[in-house]
Amino acid sequence: MKFFVDTADAPQIRAAMEMGLADGVTTNPTLVSKTGRGFKETLAEICEIVKPGPVSAEVLGLEADQMIDEARRLSDIAENIVIKIPMTSDGMKAVRTLEEEGIRTNVTLVFSANQGLLACKAGASFISPFIGRLDDIGHNGMGLVAELLEIIENYGFDTQVIVASIRHPQHVKEAALLGAHIATVPFAVLEKLFKHTLTDAGIKSFLADWEKVPDKTF
Ligand code: E4P
Repeated sequence: MKFFVDTADAPQIRAAMEMGLADGVTTNPTLVSKTGRGFKETLAEICEIVKPGPVSAEVLGLEADQMIDEARRLSDIAENIVIKIPMTSDGMKAVRTLEEEGIRTNVTLVFSANQGLLACKAGASFISPFIGRLDDIGHNGMGLVAELLEIIENYGFDTQVIVASIRHPQHVKEAALLGAHIATVPFAVLEKLFKHTLTDAGIKSFLADWEKVPDKTF
C-alpha cells in the first residue's frame, strides 16, 4: 500500500520523505489554509519535495468549465499535480475532459459505492472515500472501501482508491488488510504507527543490560 501524506505542511512532508513514507501528498483547502501561506507557492514547494509522487490540489469552482479552467492552471505548476474534483455531476464532466487531456484527477468527497462507481466510469485516476467522516456519523467507512475495491476488481477499472479522512492507526491497518491502493495519512497518525509500548520497553531493557557487558568495544 502506498502512503500519501495528508497535509500541506512542507516540513512534515520532508520528514515523511526522510522516513520513506511519502509516496505522494493530498491537500485540500482546509489543509492549505492551516499553512498561512499562498496556494501556488505552497503547492510548488510540495511538488518539488515529493516529485515524482503525485500531489493532489483541489479546485474551488462548482461548474465544470470553472473546474477545468482551474485544473489547467494548477497543472501548470508542476508535472506531478493531480486535480482534486468534488463528486458532483459537473465534477464528473470535468474529470472526463481533464483525463482525456492527460491531466490526472482525484475525485474527492466520496461517501457511497455508487459515487465511486460514477467516478470510475468518468475515468478518474483516483477516488477518495472519506472514511473518518463516515465513521463520525455512525456509518462504516471501511465497509465503503471494501465495496469500492470490489467494484474496481469486478470491472477492471484503472482507478486507484485513496483511503482518506484517516483518524487513527487502526484505519491504516484495516486499509492495508483490505488491499487498498493508497492510504493518505495525517502526519500525527504516521508518527503513531511507529509506537508500541513493548518496543519502548524492549529498547530500555536492552540498554540496561548492555551496561553489564564488561568490554563494550566493537
Ligand atoms: C484527503 O484527501 C482529504 O481531504 C482528507 O483526508 C480529509 O480529512 P478530514 O476528514 O480529516 O478533514
